[in-house]
Amino acid sequence: MNKTEHDLGRIREIVAEYEGDEHSLIEILQRAQEVYGYLPEDVIYEIARLKAIAPAKILGVATFYTQFRLAPVGKYLIMLCKGTACHVNGADGIENAVFEELGIRDGETSDDGLFTLKTVACLGCCSLSPVMMINEETYGSLTPEKAKEILRGYKA
Ligand code: FES
Repeated sequence: MNKTEHDLGRIREIVAEYEGDEHSLIEILQRAQEVYGYLPEDVIYEIARLKAIAPAKILGVATFYTQFRLAPVGKYLIMLCKGTACHVNGADGIENAVFEELGIRDGETSDDGLFTLKTVACLGCCSLSPVMMINEETYGSLTPEKAKEILRGYKA
């Protein structure tokens, strides 16, 4: 996990807002992720200290829910669908195209900090398979060449 030191003042304020509320851990983690972009290790330890909860328990919650990220993500989050329809229609080829263009595999962030790749089970638009999303934008009926072109557009 990332060892960078973060400004813990914000997380102390957030935790203080939930004082006395014993069921607020998920909300606190959501707020923390909004502030820091992900859940850094030092922030998790600070929450653990303030709430008197074992850090391992917080980590357990953070890894259980897919909405939480334990590593920083790039400016552009690529969600590449590997659900059945997309798999049948060539998602592996798209994944390779992303690797050839950006040098990243599932869960990795490019060296320039711009792109993070995350493979997901189904994006809910199977008729457009194979599909990827970049932040809020959906790109369907992909070919490896088309995917590379789209990525180049983001780099430019
Ligand atoms: S399987 Fe890819 S969008 Fe449903």
